[in-house]
Amino acid sequence: MTTPTPADRFSFGLWTIGYSGSDPFGGPTRAPLDVVHAVEKLAELGAWGLTFHDDDLFAFGSTDAERQKQIDRLKGALDATGLVVPMVTTNLFSAPVFKDGGFTSNDRGVRRFALRKALRQLDLGAELGAKTFVMWGGREGAEYDSAKDVRQALERYREAVNLLGDHVVERGYDIRFAIEPKPNEPRGDILLPTVGHALAFIETLERPELVGLNPEVGHEQMAGLNFAAGIAQALYHGKLFHIDLNGQRGIKYDQDLVFGHGDLHNAFALVDLLEHGGPGGGPAYDGPRHFDYKPSRTEDERGVWESAAANMRTYLLLKERTDAFRADPEVQEALAEARVAELAEPTLAPGETAAGLLADRSAFEDFDADSYFNARGFGFVRLQQLATEHLMAAR
Ligand code: GCO
Ligand code: MN
Ligand code: MN
Ligand code: MN
Repeated sequence: MTTPTPADRFSFGLWTIGYSGSDPFGGPTRAPLDVVHAVEKLAELGAWGLTFHDDDLFAFGSTDAERQKQIDRLKGALDATGLVVPMVTTNLFSAPVFKDGGFTSNDRGVRRFALRKALRQLDLGAELGAKTFVMWGGREGAEYDSAKDVRQALERYREAVNLLGDHVVERGYDIRFAIEPKPNEPRGDILLPTVGHALAFIETLERPELVGLNPEVGHEQMAGLNFAAGIAQALYHGKLFHIDLNGQRGIKYDQDLVFGHGDLHNAFALVDLLEHGGPGGGPAYDGPRHFDYKPSRTEDERGVWESAAANMRTYLLLKERTDAFRADPEVQEALAEARVAELAEPTLAPGETAAGLLADRSAFEDFDADSYFNARGFGFVRLQQLATEHLMAAR
């Protein structure tokens, strides 16, 4: 089935379909998108959820009345269509006040203002039933090493996340936090630049159980990293709370292309992991399939909705292709030859100690390491070719 339905749990950021085409070299190429129209179109396309930054829904500096009007318009559209708000996030990067960051600005007044803005958006998220609060610290970083005390910046980041966690617990909200790493852009260097940095940081928090990750395909790839492998490690640590799907072509500026319009092999591996990496070959992740992409500046409004649909269709096509890959007897045989399942077997026997291993002559003295020369290959390339052929619908 490649027609999306709400059961697929596809969600989109209001800033994605709402991107008007501005970049550092030119202004908008499209008119602003109204939230009610956005919700109606997404529902029509088969999406399940809409996510947003505070500033996407009501402009920075809105009066309370203007803010409330937009919230009410959003609620009306959600009621009319059945779309939900699974995640919200705060814009701590666009307004001039955040030029040196929000939670980690050198300016303490800015940090206190950023915390108030985040708390307000957290309350709105709870009111709308959001289960995840994303923290992307785009401006939390620096261009100049002597200008930012990175250890103190991490302390302030920690203080901020701890405070938001206190608030969630005090208010009894059913919300978890998801940190979104990115190596650079808009800052020269951003704090918590990769999945690995963020995982280590989370363990320093007062409530690590409340905090996980929102990794984005393109952001890990901007750092030259393997996204599917990063997701596997996030799952291993129980920290895949949310995901930003999109496309990126190598180490360059953040492209935010349609999912699959970048490293398609890695997208295949990712969908295979999410859909078949769990116990018994079932899904390894049951959260939202969230798209954080930008309809290219070349597109008009028709292109916006075509590209939104393309994200979902590509995901479902990849799911179909990975289903076929998993069901193919030749793939099963190649997996067995590659001894992929053997990695699940512990290296030591139950209860075996170093002394036991030292006493086992078959592990060393009688082990024929030479037999691996010119023989006993793993056949990984054949397996990859089978994956490629399934990806191309050639099998
Ligand atoms: C980017 C990021 C952002 C964040 C969003 C959520 O492209 O750099 O993906 O779009 O996901 O701001 O806070
Ligand atoms: Mn991005
Ligand atoms: Mn993102
Ligand atoms: Mn983005």
